[in-house]
Amino acid sequence: MLEIRNLRKSFPLEGDASKERRAVQGLDLTLNDGDFLVVIGGNGSGKSTLLNLIAGTIRPDEGDILIDGMSLEALPERKRARFIGRVFQDPKAGSIGDFTLFENLALALNRGHPHTLRWSMSKERRAFFVKTLSPLGLGLETRLDERMSSFSGGERQAATLLMSTFNDPKLLLLDEHTSALDPKTSAMVLALTDKFASSIKGSTLMITHNLKDAIAHGNRLLMMKEGRAVYEAFAEEKATLTVADLIAKYSSESGEALSASALD
Ligand SMILES: Nc1ncnc2c1ncn2[C@@H]1O[C@H](COP(=O)(O)OP(=O)(O)O)[C@@H](O)[C@H]1O
Ligand SMILES: [Mg+2]
Repeated sequence: MLEIRNLRKSFPLEGDASKERRAVQGLDLTLNDGDFLVVIGGNGSGKSTLLNLIAGTIRPDEGDILIDGMSLEALPERKRARFIGRVFQDPKAGSIGDFTLFENLALALNRGHPHTLRWSMSKERRAFFVKTLSPLGLGLETRLDERMSSFSGGERQAATLLMSTFNDPKLLLLDEHTSALDPKTSAMVLALTDKFASSIKGSTLMITHNLKDAIAHGNRLLMMKEGRAVYEAFAEEKATLTVADLIAKYSSESGEALSASALD
């Protein structure tokens, strides 16, 4: 379970350090295990800042973030990575291009078990990787010795999703992880995302600027505007939302329209 209370983060304004931009202004959020929250909002509404604060990439000015009742305050990003999986927008960001798929998977597996010999047998690991890659349906299990740089963006995101869930994270954080992909590949990676989100014990938080995707995925929705939650939808309400509803909600909350690209 993720609990966020009164989270605040400001950045100095570029060009005038005496002023600040409030990226997240007093956000509260509780996610139960199994929840899949979709986060939407215009550019600069604080979505990535929220994820960065949870992952520990940046520190909050105020507020608490707890996972299963434990405050993350004293934990650096590296330690949080043991129970927080992340996938970024850039397909290259989640794996090392010069390393093979096998090497990348082995690194990801070791991240959670640095001191165990459980996975030391190469043959055993290979069998495990084949077993976990096969259900993705992309044939990646036959390409374990290829360098990661030879894989497509969609294949890399699929592999990154797998790696980020190896250690059954308490939280899976996805920051527009399909927005660099063509529509067909994006749909494939989102279908895998649904599978991974339901296979982990923890919860999933996915940022998207695509309103159709926001409607089709997840059981909860959070709309952000200027660092605040302006609309939230749960279960049945989320299930009945339409793109038109979201556009109407956004403009009634902000007087602005969500960008047309949101309708792709
Ligand atoms: N590291 C940073 N330094 C300065 N300003 C930042 C930084 N990160 C984000 N911001 C600012 O905070 C606001 C929220 O940004 P962000 O969370 O990236 O928005 P979103 O992901 O919703 O597009 C923006 O105005 C952005 O310019
Ligand atoms: Mg962002």
